[in-house]
Amino acid sequence: MRLSPIFDPVSPQAAAMERVSTVGFVVSAFIFAGVTLWIALALIRYRARPGSPELEKIAFGNHRIEIAWTLVPVLIVAYLFIVTAQGMRLSDPTVTRAPDVIVTGHQWWWEIQYPRSGVVAANEMHIPVGQKLYIRLESADVIHDFWAPQLGRKMDMIPGHPNAIWIEADRPGTFQGSCGEYCGNQHAWMRFTVYADSPQDFARWEQAQLRPVAATAAGPALAGRRLFTTLTCVNCHALKGTGASARYAPDLTHFASRSTFGAGVSPNTADALTRWLRNPQDIKPGCLMPNFQLQPDQVANLVAYLETLR
Ligand code: CUA
Repeated sequence: MRLSPIFDPVSPQAAAMERVSTVGFVVSAFIFAGVTLWIALALIRYRARPGSPELEKIAFGNHRIEIAWTLVPVLIVAYLFIVTAQGMRLSDPTVTRAPDVIVTGHQWWWEIQYPRSGVVAANEMHIPVGQKLYIRLESADVIHDFWAPQLGRKMDMIPGHPNAIWIEADRPGTFQGSCGEYCGNQHAWMRFTVYADSPQDFARWEQAQLRPVAATAAGPALAGRRLFTTLTCVNCHALKGTGASARYAPDLTHFASRSTFGAGVSPNTADALTRWLRNPQDIKPGCLMPNFQLQPDQVANLVAYLETLR
């Protein structure tokens, strides 16, 4: 999973920052080239030669040149200031309403809540295209940093001190994000995906997430459901319809609707899930889910159950 390129913004917020960066780079490049050129010319043209005048005999002081080389940098800095202030205003407008999405950083995954609808997701965030969304950023443990480079600015998630950013997607697509602040040994596997959906697709997704999971009739899935509710799973995970409501680990209600698990560490397939349940520490060493020493049939039943959670 590759982090989305920062120089290919797909939101007005990210575009504003990209502009500041490009303008700053171009202006600096011209200044660098100009200064280098002048130094090179001066070194060649005015180098000491036999018979050249002594230093103290050279005339000093030229009001016109001095005014020019004071005024020009002042104008350049003023221009950069204006571009920066505009970028800041566009990428980080003042907050005027309740958050659309609340993202909470955990070691090492993302909890994504939609307060208006009540949907709770993990690691995969769906947003409607063309809507400016106010995202509130929180942390459950240490300092994390929410960063979806193509969609908006980077922002720390500080325990006990909610931060906020605006993001908006100009076009539908899938955009990668990651934690941008070292937060422990699985910091590198604290990825997330933003799915920018058309408003219809987003509404459909939200409705699907709100629907209770289908009842498990019989077979391995039913056995898996029993294991889920009787083993220690419920101490950390929430799963609507089973009574499990803990928030220490990802909400599993619509687990099978996600394309990855473990904050991007693995594709969400039966094989990968089997390996994960055998020993999560094999796949994501240091993660807070311990090896429960499950028997092969227990793993198979749990996988069968999780696969039904569409
Ligand atoms: Cu969370 Cu790095």
